[in-house]
Amino acid sequence: MNSKSIAIAGALLLSTSGLVLAAGTTIIPAGQSAQGGQTDTTEVAQAQSSEKTAQQETKAAPPPAQSEPASSGQNGDATAAADSQASEPAQSETAAAGGDVMKPDAHPSKDTVSEGNEVASVDDLGKATDSAGNPTYQISADGTADWYTWRGYKKYMANCMQCHGPDGLGSSFAPNLTESLQTLNYFDFAGIIVSGQQNKWNTSGNSVMPAWGEDPNVMCSLDPIYIYLRARADGVVGRGEPKRPKNNDTTKAAQQEEYNCLGF
Ligand code: HEC
Repeated sequence: MNSKSIAIAGALLLSTSGLVLAAGTTIIPAGQSAQGGQTDTTEVAQAQSSEKTAQQETKAAPPPAQSEPASSGQNGDATAAADSQASEPAQSETAAAGGDVMKPDAHPSKDTVSEGNEVASVDDLGKATDSAGNPTYQISADGTADWYTWRGYKKYMANCMQCHGPDGLGSSFAPNLTESLQTLNYFDFAGIIVSGQQNKWNTSGNSVMPAWGEDPNVMCSLDPIYIYLRARADGVVGRGEPKRPKNNDTTKAAQQEEYNCLGF
């Protein structure tokens, strides 16, 4: 296996184990200490918002050994995140307050161009919408993603990555979705996922995006996938796995809703 296939295998493994270890998988990005204390949240936030490259190299392919159950003891990274994220409302405020971390890049998604990326409301399960009601992300100041953004990454990796490439960046036979979202709004996106699309992006004659309308694995996670890709298109989430939120009653309820939808 070359390093790329190891990266993909690692990501797939994590995405599977994510279902089981929903409560406690903690991935320690390279450059951050597992021993805690030395790395303060400011440094973490800076590291995450500034250079995506160094971080993603290791994050995209964390060896399985780095993913530990929460019960095996907190590392500094997770503790810092927990401290700065004491409660759900505080997290939403941080996200809604915006600031540099939430600032979209120069070529954001179509919804962000028309609505901005400010969170207008957050439902009981912690899912945010913008002022037009389109699903959107909440990234707190230390780079921690909300559950939907993180879950969307997992579902993208499980269902879309094999064609559209890691991190939504496209491949030779399927488009870069961080670019596609510059021209597709949420409803366009949802319509394509439900019904598929053929020979529009590539007119050579055998370019097929499958229809997912009958597949609960995708349909039960349509919004999380959109939210993750919107965050990628807006440049507020880098490559690799977004920083996972601490588990709480709200994240558990959101996960349960997905399981209910899947019939678990
Ligand atoms: C079997 C490969 C494959 C899989 C799996 C797949 N896609 Fe696609 N997708 C394609 C291809 C090929 C196209 C381009 C079709 C065309 O030429 O019109 C496409 C097009 C799209 C488009 C339209 C982009 C544009 O700019 O026109 C969106 C949005 C999209 N896919 C999202 C997804 C999502 C989200 C998933 C996972 C749930 C997914 N795709 C899974 C192959 C795939």
